[in-house]
Amino acid sequence: MQVVKYMFQPHGDERGMLVALEEFNDIPFRVKRVYYMYDTKAGVVRGNHAHKSLEQILVCIHGKCKIRLDNGREKKVVNLEKPYEGLYVANNMWREMFDFSPDAVLLVLASEPYDEKDYIRDYDEFLKIAGQDHEN
Ligand code: TYD
Repeated sequence: MQVVKYMFQPHGDERGMLVALEEFNDIPFRVKRVYYMYDTKAGVVRGNHAHKSLEQILVCIHGKCKIRLDNGREKKVVNLEKPYEGLYVANNMWREMFDFSPDAVLLVLASEPYDEKDYIRDYDEFLKIAGQDHEN
């Protein structure tokens, strides 16, 4: 499985740091939604789903967390701990977010508005869809 982690360009000077993200430039899709998680409690695992068509970029803009990616054949754990790192999560990819530090803020840039119909929440259903995807 290829993990795509973007290293965004930080603009730094004596005042501090700034990262700017532009759709189709720094982000490979049109950004139609932004959301973020914070105050995630110790031991919590979020996510536990895949999406039929949604693409996302995950940026841990403060603190740190881990992301488990699972394409139905292979799993990989990615550490997010820098505000200039962005993890690309494709459609048909099971994801779990865990090991959040108490101060973690996980920002998500998404290619579509919220749509419950796009979620695959059942792991066995995901494995079937991922298997078909692999055959094509
Ligand atoms: P949920 O899907 O449980 O988050 P995750 O699976 O990533 O841990 O979402 C938590 C709640 O927030 C749920 O009631 C749906 C709502 N929500 C929105 O209203 N809009 C959104 O864009 C997202 C991601 C969630």
